[in-house]
Amino acid sequence: MNDLIQKIKSLSEDYYEEIKEVRRHLHANPELSFEEHNTASFIEQKLEEFGIQEVHRIAETGVTFCLEGNGKGKTIALRADIDALPITEENDVSYCSQNDGVMHACGHDVHTANLLGAAKILNELKDHWTGTIKFIFQPAEEKSPGGASILIKEGILENPKPENILGQHVMPLIDAGKVGFKKGKYMASADEIYLTVKGKGGHAAMPENFVDPIAITSQIIVSLQQIVSRFANPKMPTVLSFGKIAGGTITNIIPDEVKVEGTFRTFNEEWRKEALEKIRKMATSIAESMGASCEVSFAPGYPFLINDEDYTERNIEAAKKYLGAENVEELDLWMAAEDFASYSHRVDACFYRLGTRNEEKGITSGVHTPTFDIDETSLKIGMGLMAFLAIEELEFSQ
Ligand code: NI
Repeated sequence: MNDLIQKIKSLSEDYYEEIKEVRRHLHANPELSFEEHNTASFIEQKLEEFGIQEVHRIAETGVTFCLEGNGKGKTIALRADIDALPITEENDVSYCSQNDGVMHACGHDVHTANLLGAAKILNELKDHWTGTIKFIFQPAEEKSPGGASILIKEGILENPKPENILGQHVMPLIDAGKVGFKKGKYMASADEIYLTVKGKGGHAAMPENFVDPIAITSQIIVSLQQIVSRFANPKMPTVLSFGKIAGGTITNIIPDEVKVEGTFRTFNEEWRKEALEKIRKMATSIAESMGASCEVSFAPGYPFLINDEDYTERNIEAAKKYLGAENVEELDLWMAAEDFASYSHRVDACFYRLGTRNEEKGITSGVHTPTFDIDETSLKIGMGLMAFLAIEELEFSQ
């Protein structure tokens, strides 16, 4: 097995310059969710250069194919997301975004480059593993309803059906050279909440003649926090945050309506449904009790993400073999959402973090910021470890 690790590490070195160029090309040419046409063509072109055949499109801008190893075995899937964000890049680098207002600020360029690198390695080492590896270059992670749910509807988890799925995401809080794992529940579900409180506007000096939606909205926002503090199981993380409130014009006018937008996050599907229903009831009945009305709507987001305990444990052990135990960290729960979650409720899944931070080089910006970047040496681990984890899992099942 040490021999295999050495082989993968040396291929990762050999392919590093090429995969770095791939990442830089993707970074300079970002495309928004569901618009990844050039990205998909570029992925296909690279796969052709690698000599990989029978590559298919799925959901227009998704790309998928299978590699068969040296003999029969189970099927596993490796997934990378490929879309970028509506952010204007502020980095002064040669590979800065050429697409105004669009940026790979969440590292999906890195995930795509790494999965291409892993494909090249696994194709080269076909004689060293058995079974089938399904590669998924998934569009639209950043935009609800999310590319994962669309790909699932279009059959990505069938023919062949993967028994495991592995996903990787950059993590600027972890140093380059390290990775992080979390067994069990890892990332939250996230639903958007929209409230419109309708009162009756007029002169602020005569509140008795009108229905003040600002006072009523304040009451609603404060009361809704009771859902977190009094109804949520204290052992079940729950977040209710309102990020936008809009209404009114000037000090002495009571407006007709106020709009509020927020997000609800948690780790249990039943509680998620129940809590949204409570939000609806509480908001409408408070408004009504004060003579106003409240329209409530939700934009359902991704479910919570769960890493299969056993599969993740096997990946942790394999990562320790590949990187050394000191370079494998244990992660905490994270209240952000990720559409890899949709796979994780259907297939034994593992979503892990690739460290990309380098303080000495000044690479510390968070994801979704205009100065996000990575220490590119992490690409070696990104492609190599993913290839190794795939082979280890296929060997485990033999
Ligand atoms: Ni992301």
